[in-house]
Amino acid sequence: MVAVRQAVFEDAEALARIDLVTWTSETSPVPAPQVDTYDFFDERTSPADVLVAEVGGTVVGYVKLRSVLHPPSRSHVMEINGLAVDPSHQREGVAPHLVEAAVEESARRGALKVSLRVLGPNARARRLYERCGFVVEGVLRGEFVLDGRPVDDVFMARRLDDGDRDIWGITTHDWSVDVDVEHLAKARQAAESLGDAMALHLVLEVLAYADDEAEAAGRRGCVRVVVRGDEIQVADDGRGTDTRRDAEGRVVRKPIMATRDVRFFDEEDPVLLPDGLPRRGMSTVSAASPSLLHDNWRTSGAWSQEYRFGTPQAELRELPPTGRTGTTVTVRLPSPVDLDLTQLAVLVRGFAHVDVEVSGGRGADGAPPTPDRR
Ligand SMILES: CC(C)(COP(=O)(O)OP(=O)(O)OC[C@H]1O[C@@H](n2cnc3c(N)ncnc32)[C@H](O)[C@@H]1OP(=O)(O)O)[C@@H](O)C(=O)NCCC(=O)NCCS
Repeated sequence: MVAVRQAVFEDAEALARIDLVTWTSETSPVPAPQVDTYDFFDERTSPADVLVAEVGGTVVGYVKLRSVLHPPSRSHVMEINGLAVDPSHQREGVAPHLVEAAVEESARRGALKVSLRVLGPNARARRLYERCGFVVEGVLRGEFVLDGRPVDDVFMARRLDDGDRDIWGITTHDWSVDVDVEHLAKARQAAESLGDAMALHLVLEVLAYADDEAEAAGRRGCVRVVVRGDEIQVADDGRGTDTRRDAEGRVVRKPIMATRDVRFFDEEDPVLLPDGLPRRGMSTVSAASPSLLHDNWRTSGAWSQEYRFGTPQAELRELPPTGRTGTTVTVRLPSPVDLDLTQLAVLVRGFAHVDVEVSGGRGADGAPPTPDRR
């Protein structure tokens, strides 16, 4: 599985190696870096501007981002100014993850447009960017002379304010579908077949997303699980479920509750959660729950929606900002939850990127946790 996180200085050697093995005059207009003296990070590139992709803990690719700060009238534009994937991991879908993460990071920083330049002959990269929703905005003909031949510089961009749900890209869920009724029926069946193991497993399904997100962001997350009566609440301190505006300005939250996670459901060789059972995705949780409340706090706003067996009950409701970000899932199960909290506290240690606090009884207010409240 591909995980994307922010770079750290320690990645420098791996990233320099990837640059050196992927450089050709088809991919870059500048001379090849010198093997002995090449430093990936310098005064123009800091780890904060770079996202790296890892497969099985090994760095296999990167994307570089640059803010266009001057003049201020262009400050809504972010640039992708570097992308490469180790040849031994090319054609595995690593680059689309990187580009999507770069777009999400740009949106998080407030960008309305992400632009880039690609050499005309770099057909593979151009196709990749097109698949990721970038369009050609202009071509500088013969802008470079490489290996004695004139080469075009192609300007491409993806607007983040055009609201076209069909080109938002599918990394985990299909944005263009609101509810997948057929899938929800299957997901409910799958959850119910777990019998007594269901409640525990559903908590792990939710925690897996907080763990993924913390891993992708290269941070340690903090999650609170509270069990009371027939209700389980899982609150994380991540970025809050991805939420965007469509062409009509309607708020659209990634349909994680009502559609399938394309990475997990029905996998022949499934990823296992710490209870040893296959990961099937968040929709399994909502499909099994007579009532589920999904609240997300993002830097751009906060929203809440109730689901019954995975089907949304009303439009997204706006929540007042709290100054924090995160996602809270509150599940009401068909009968009082008989969870062994000690067993849960042990199992959650299987998530490597989050600290999980497990408790029973009252006291949760549904807001994302903060370090001082843990
Ligand atoms: C361009 C680049 C980043 C693409 O990385 P990638 O991770 O291989 O990208 P993808 O996985 O999407 O795959 C690219 C191709 O493999 C195909 N592919 C993807 N998954 C596949 C799979 N499982 N089986 C077979 N083919 C697959 C894609 O359809 C795509 O085909 P295409 O080239 O015919 O369009 C990479 O080739 C690279 O590092 N190039 C050198 C640096 C560079 O050019 N950077 C861009 C500068 S602007």
